[in-house]
Amino acid sequence: MNKPIEVSASILAADFSQLARDIKRCEDAGVGRFHIDCMDGHFVPNLTIGPVIVEAMRKHTPLILEAHLMIEHPGHYIESYAKAGADIIQLQVECYGERLPSSRLWNQWPKGIEKVDTLSLRADLKKIRHLGKKAFVVFNPTTPLCEDILNDCDGVLIMSVNPGFAGQKFMPEVLPKLKRLKEIFKGDIAIDGGINAQTAPLAVTAGAHVLITASYLFGSDQFSDVIKSLKSLA
Ligand code: DX5
Ligand code: ZN
Repeated sequence: MNKPIEVSASILAADFSQLARDIKRCEDAGVGRFHIDCMDGHFVPNLTIGPVIVEAMRKHTPLILEAHLMIEHPGHYIESYAKAGADIIQLQVECYGERLPSSRLWNQWPKGIEKVDTLSLRADLKKIRHLGKKAFVVFNPTTPLCEDILNDCDGVLIMSVNPGFAGQKFMPEVLPKLKRLKEIFKGDIAIDGGINAQTAPLAVTAGAHVLITASYLFGSDQFSDVIKSLKSLA
């Protein structure tokens, strides 16, 4: 049986001067989680959210907070995001192992990897679980799945845009990764980037049941209609 759809609101497109109000609007509309895009200006070209914002959000919602760490050396920050109140911590696999020659310089994006260093990734996933949190791995659009580490995570997030910004176009070439995951993985299968009324059905059919959305949701003046239609795809 298909799992129910969960919508995760990516606050990257929220009004940061009215974050508590936007959190409430999302809750009232039936959002199940909040997705927090943490970017360091090195792993991705953009610079966004640190643990202080997670801590502030924690005071305003009982819903699941997921911290998507698009930062170099994410292992050093696991504890601070966990302490700040994140329930799920999402690690990009491209931070574990040697970079592809095309993304070795600090300003070359998206970051890619030659081969995942499963030992150090596994150690960080363990660290997350020891802190009582759920551990996810994230794959950039051109990064192949690393199936060896699936037993060590609670969820997998497939990027359907190159990470860095909201409002980009969905990359359908990632759909086979979702299909494969659905065959072999029992945990959460999430998709992030360019989700809207046209692309969400493709992602769900391929195997995703956690839909992350920033601009589609926050660009609408009818949050509950957006959530309802996404959830009806189950
Ligand atoms: C991209 C972020 C996404 C982004 C999604 O780097 O990881 O979570 O906020 O934005 P939309 O839904 O607008 O593509
Ligand atoms: Zn994200």
